Amino acid sequence: MITSEQNERLTRVGPGTPAGELLRRYWQALCPVAELTDDKPIKPLRLLGEDLLVFKDGQGRYGLIEARCKHRRVSLTRGFVEEDGIRCAYHGWKYATDGRCIEQPFEPADSHLKDDIRLRAYPVQALGGLLFGYLGPAPAPLLPRWDVLVREDGRRFIQILPLHHCNWLQCEENTADTVHTYYLHGRMAQEHGLTIPGADYYVRPVERYEWSVCDWGIEKVLVYGGEQPEVEVRPPLIFPNILRVPQGPVEAIHFRVPIDDTHTRILWVGFLEDASAHTPEDAALPFEYLEAGRNADGEHDLQSFYSQDQWAWESQGELYDRSAETLGATDRGIVLFRKMLDEQIARVEQGLAPDVAMVTDPAHNQSITFPSATRPWGGTEAMSFVPGATADASAP
Ligand code: FES
Ligand SMILES: [Fe+2]
Repeated sequence: MITSEQNERLTRVGPGTPAGELLRRYWQALCPVAELTDDKPIKPLRLLGEDLLVFKDGQGRYGLIEARCKHRRVSLTRGFVEEDGIRCAYHGWKYATDGRCIEQPFEPADSHLKDDIRLRAYPVQALGGLLFGYLGPAPAPLLPRWDVLVREDGRRFIQILPLHHCNWLQCEENTADTVHTYYLHGRMAQEHGLTIPGADYYVRPVERYEWSVCDWGIEKVLVYGGEQPEVEVRPPLIFPNILRVPQGPVEAIHFRVPIDDTHTRILWVGFLEDASAHTPEDAALPFEYLEAGRNADGEHDLQSFYSQDQWAWESQGELYDRSAETLGATDRGIVLFRKMLDEQIARVEQGLAPDVAMVTDPAHNQSITFPSATRPWGGTEAMSFVPGATADASAP
């Protein structure tokens, strides 16, 4: 049983909050690399309750900085990007990608006003077609090279799901909630007469479910009985806010990025093995923002796995009150995950680095794979977590 105080501790993401400080120890996905172009090199975004913007200067360097100018706090989102930084559109103060103020056009030539002025600025790295930012204390840990992001023997593509109006933990707890697939996806498709690739796979009796702690997070095993008995070893829940999952032939990774306490942005990267394909450079990887899966009445349309999941998480409330829930045996994975989250928060409170899903040795960071995982459902179409994510439709 979780108290309201514990619920606050595990969910809130702003600076200085327990979970917020933990999440700041992990690189967070920002946006597709290809979204920043010469015509549009600035993208405002909110992350962990902070209003930021990411931009690319004239030399191709990325900056992730607070969104308001230090002078009179105008938004920098309409600033002018120049060779060595971004210039505020109000009175022209200029900032480098590391946040330093490097020019104040109308101050006296001998002024030192700018010397101590610095925007909050965070490191940025590009990988697998996405930009990642790190909001924690220096030094930043290694950016994990998940297989989906670094494989070169096929095609990679990116989708950004519609804005989720709920706290990040609701999305991530679902990753430990293995049995939800039977009703929410399998039975839901039957009830609505939907043809969703992979949905039938889940309508099978579940005989056993197991979870265990591993270096990456929580390992999950599901044992099906009935006419198609099967032991399914799913890739682990990657701590603290990642889902790694095979979706039919597509190997996928979902980053559940906390925007603030009550909004989550999900960036999805899929990889389809194809020996004849040439994997494009990061800056050329295709991406799309998905339409909100709503019907004419504004309700979730429930036509895809992603819409079904989104409906479930949002219906818990924008910040789910766990003190009112009743957990059963199927929730042991969730309990294990919350315990891990609480322990890792405590490590950070004690001044230690987290020790789950941290890659410390570059030699072990070439391509992080999960060889023990089985591929659920042997179909040739991509399991429709997102509409249009079939092998053909998503080809670049
Ligand atoms: S508000 Fe930005 S330069 Fe004045
Ligand atoms: Fe789901």
